[in-house]
Amino acid sequence: MKTAVVYYTFGGSTKREAERLAGELGADICRVSEVKNRNLLTSFIPGSFQAMKQKATPIRPLSLDLLAYERLIIGCPLWANYPAPAFNSIVKLLPPGKEVEVFICSGSGDSSKSEPKTKELISRQGCRVVSYRDVKTNTPPGKIKE
Ligand SMILES: Cc1cc2nc3c(=O)[nH]c(=O)nc-3n(C[C@H](O)[C@H](O)[C@H](O)COP(=O)(O)O)c2cc1C
Repeated sequence: MKTAVVYYTFGGSTKREAERLAGELGADICRVSEVKNRNLLTSFIPGSFQAMKQKATPIRPLSLDLLAYERLIIGCPLWANYPAPAFNSIVKLLPPGKEVEVFICSGSGDSSKSEPKTKELISRQGCRVVSYRDVKTNTPPGKIKE
């Protein structure tokens, strides 16, 4: 099954999990970046508020065509109990009718507070969540070293 892992990372831990998954599944991988560069401060303010409001922030064009994949796996960090804003931007690009797998990386390993709303967002896009998984990371907040 042709699979793509599409993810956003700020600190690098979601990147590690996305690369692990893509390697295991032989999937293509696509890192999403926001148009506006964030630092640690702007990830907390306004990033956390954008996350809580499920706001989609502008992202750069994806490096792959999501229509070409039968299986889409999307991942991102948890900010203020909600997926980081770039997640919402990815969801808007999902071709309706796709089955979607979600993984959320967080310090707590618990995104249950926003899980129903995240699933609802994806179903409003005309897609179906077939799996949802929390990944507990031990990454202290900080920006990825490029
Ligand atoms: C702005 C911000 C808000 C965060 N809020 C939460 C939170 O509400 N719950 C939690 O468990 N971890 C929270 N974290 C920790 C991250 O979810 C965790 O470090 C995650 O692994 C980061 O992924 P990344 O390295 O791919 O960016 C937050 C981190 C940042 C930067």
